[in-house]
Amino acid sequence: MAGRHLRDMISAYGERDDLKFRRAAQAIIQEEEAKRHNVLARELRGILAANSALAVTEEPALPEVPVDRDSSLPLAYTSRPDAMLTDLVLGDQPATSLKALLNEVRQWSRLDKMGLPRRNRLLLSGPPGCGKTSTVEALAGELGRPLVTARVEGLISSYLGETAANLNNLFEFASSGPYVLFLDEFDSLGKRRDDPSDHGELRRVVNAVLQQIDRYAGPSLIVAATNHSGVLDSALWRRFDTIVELPLPTATEITELLSRLLPELPFDEIRGLANELNGRPHAAVEYFAYWVRRSAALDDASTPDPVHLHRALSETLSRPWM
Ligand SMILES: Nc1ncnc2c1ncn2[C@@H]1O[C@H](COP(=O)(O)OP(=O)(O)OP(=O)(O)O)[C@@H](O)[C@H]1O
Ligand SMILES: [Mg+2]
Repeated sequence: MAGRHLRDMISAYGERDDLKFRRAAQAIIQEEEAKRHNVLARELRGILAANSALAVTEEPALPEVPVDRDSSLPLAYTSRPDAMLTDLVLGDQPATSLKALLNEVRQWSRLDKMGLPRRNRLLLSGPPGCGKTSTVEALAGELGRPLVTARVEGLISSYLGETAANLNNLFEFASSGPYVLFLDEFDSLGKRRDDPSDHGELRRVVNAVLQQIDRYAGPSLIVAATNHSGVLDSALWRRFDTIVELPLPTATEITELLSRLLPELPFDEIRGLANELNGRPHAAVEYFAYWVRRSAALDDASTPDPVHLHRALSETLSRPWM
C-alpha cells in the first residue's frame, strides 16, 4: 500500500492539503516501523515533527457529540475512516461528480474569497448495498475529516420539543468543526412528510430539519443518503446542491469488483461470474467473493475450485438483496 500513500502525499502537495500530507507521511512511517526499519522511521518522525506545529504521533481526539436528553444516547457517532474513492468501483458519472465536489471542498476558502457560494449539501441516492455509506466514508477519508453519522430516525424524540433541541444541537455541533456530517436514512423524513397518520408535531419536525439544512453555513460537508429517491418530494430534493446516484453495478463494474476481490481467478471465469451476478448490488458481489475465499481457505485450497464457486453463487443468488 506504500504506493497509495506516496500518491496521497504527492497529491496533497498539489492540493496544499496539510492534513492529508501528514496522514500519508504517518502511514509511511508506520509501514517502515512494521518492516522494523526503526532508524529510518525515527528519522522520518523527527523530520515531520520538526516541520509541524501539531503532534504527529496521534490524530486529534474525535469530537464528543451531543446526546438525546431523553434516552441519553448520542445523536451521532464519530469515526475517522481511511477509505479512499479509489477503493470503490464507481460508474463514470458518480466518480466524476464526487471528484469535482472533493476538489471544490478542498478549495472552499478560494470560493469564499471570490464571493461564490460553496456546494456543501450532497444527497446520495441508490438501492441498498450500492455504496452510499462506503462513499461517505471515502469522502471523509479523502478530506481527512472526521465522519459524524446520524440516523435521521434517531433524532426524533418521543418528547415534545426535544426533537427540535436535538436538531439544533446536531447542527450546532456540525458548525463547531470541519466534519463530514452524514444523515443516513434520510428517506424516513420523506415518508413522515406524507404520512396521513402524522399530526402537526411531525410536520414541524420535518420542516425543522429542512430549515437546519437550508440555514447551514458552517465548515462541515453535509451528506444525506436515501434508498428510495421516489419518496423524496421536491421540497426535500431542493435542499441539496449536489445529487449523486449510485445505481446497481453494470456487468463491467461487477467484473472489475470481482477482479479486485478474487485476483487469482482467470478473467474468463470472472466474466462468466459477473454475468451470473448481474442485477445484484455491490454488496452481493462482495458477499460472493468472501464466501469463495472462506470456503477455499477452510479446504486448504490455494485457489478456489468450481465447487467453491458454485456453492458461493447459489448462496448469493438465493438471498434477497433489495
Ligand atoms: N461501489 C462499490 N465498490 C466496491 N464495493 C462496494 C461498492 N458499493 C458497496 N460496496 C460494498 O458493499 C457493501 C455495502 O455497501 P454500503 O454499506 O456502502 O451500501 P449502502 O448503499 O450504504 O447500503 P444501505 O442502503 O443498506 O445502507 C460494503 O461492504 C462495500 O464494501
Ligand atoms: Mg448505508
